[in-house]
Amino acid sequence: MTIEKDVVVIGAGVTGLIAANRLVAEGHTVAVLEARDRVGGRTWTNDIEGVTLEIGGQWVSPDQTALLETLVELGLETYDRYREGSSVYIDQHGSRTEYTGDIFPLPEATATEIERLVAVVDEYVAKVDPDRPWETPDAAALDELSFREWLRRLSDDRVATENVELFIAGAMLTKPAHTFSALQALLMAASAGSFSNLVDADFILDKRVVGGMQQVSERLAAKLGDDVHLNAPVRTLRWDDEGVVAIADGGVEVRARQALVAVPPPLYSRISYEPPLPRRQHQLHQHLSMGFVIKVHAVYDRPFWRGAGLSGTAFSPYELVHEAYDNSMHGSEQGTLVGFVSDQHADDVFALSAEDRKARVLDSLAHYYGDEARRPVVYYESDWGTEEWTRGAYAASFDLGGLVRYGADQRAAVGPLRFASSDLAGHGYQHVDGAVRIGREVAAEIVADLPQPAVR
Ligand code: FDA
Repeated sequence: MTIEKDVVVIGAGVTGLIAANRLVAEGHTVAVLEARDRVGGRTWTNDIEGVTLEIGGQWVSPDQTALLETLVELGLETYDRYREGSSVYIDQHGSRTEYTGDIFPLPEATATEIERLVAVVDEYVAKVDPDRPWETPDAAALDELSFREWLRRLSDDRVATENVELFIAGAMLTKPAHTFSALQALLMAASAGSFSNLVDADFILDKRVVGGMQQVSERLAAKLGDDVHLNAPVRTLRWDDEGVVAIADGGVEVRARQALVAVPPPLYSRISYEPPLPRRQHQLHQHLSMGFVIKVHAVYDRPFWRGAGLSGTAFSPYELVHEAYDNSMHGSEQGTLVGFVSDQHADDVFALSAEDRKARVLDSLAHYYGDEARRPVVYYESDWGTEEWTRGAYAASFDLGGLVRYGADQRAAVGPLRFASSDLAGHGYQHVDGAVRIGREVAAEIVADLPQPAVR
């Protein structure tokens, strides 16, 4: 099947679908080619043993205004994450404490040091433009130092730095804190408005979408109708100054003036470009890699922790599950806990049998919530690492020095080809909000380049 359109969009995640809808609204024709048998990419609401779970992106924070606008436009409603009652913290000795408020229940000197570090990081973040972090004062120096080392130079209190590094390493970039730079960490915080915002679970994990986040993509795709082609992984992009031909599985071929490659950056090299991409893209694409986290759901007949006065919120840099929350679905009587196992911890437990891994994860949940946590009715581990069309979670980030060396070129067009992803966004970086923003931005760039559409 050969299709002729103004623009071919590769990837039916939020980035690609927002861009495609914007292009259509401006009078252009599009074809969206999606590798999977579903739309939504890293947002995915699925039925697991009769229970609906959000396996990918789900939370919305108040600063994510582009996403909030989109939810309204699509007629989707939100609800608050359950957060009544005490949180649980486990310290480096394995001691469990219930607490309220934002400050971890640590000895006063360490708690004060954490507050000081958050304030210091906030001062740095205030100087970072998330759309141009490479222009930050002292960017080169901040990009050559790992986040861990930078924090250690700011403070001698190891427990304080271990707690602060968790907010960006395990919890956001899902890479060990020695593998990414201080500048990369500052970008993550700046994209959420401030570091204080990022460390505030009630802010950053504020709301969820009734029925699940994947509906954003499903509703955007429904508007495009037959112009979205599933099971159509793009294998080849043939391009020159006149246009592009996208060749996908299933005999689908799209001829277009422009192409938007809206797949996770580490997957750019899965596509053969004819002629090959320029040297700069060949190099820079190799410096963007996915983090890795397991999102674990444990579903119980009832949210038993609520009766014990617990909110479900739990943290520890020293536990296998470094953070966990009440993730009960809207309107359900069942209680659901969601926990996260990040980076090297995820590697380690994937080396175990499924049974041993489950036992280790439930041990960790039981440490936070008590023995009842060992007996879920449904237990599910997301495994984005084996998803061919994602290959990790949550998103991609640069290695040490990569932001300064390559960042300014990451969104540069190559002939008729453009690249966009939540992982290249400024505000909303690595989030659905960033996908909406960059989808809008890249659509505007394409519209500016295309000839005015004839009135159709
Ligand atoms: P995305 O990866 O979603 O879409 C790309 C699409 O391209 C996919 O559909 C893929 O199949 C397709 N594709 C790839 N190669 C192709 C090819 N060669 N041909 C055709 N198609 C191809 N965010 C948030 O805001 N709140 C949250 O709570 C979370 N939590 C979270 C948890 C987990 C487990 C994950 C994995 C992610 C999150 N996120 C999140 C991040 C958020 O989900 C993510 O940033 C966006 O959904 C990314 O949208 P994109 O469209 O940019 O990429």
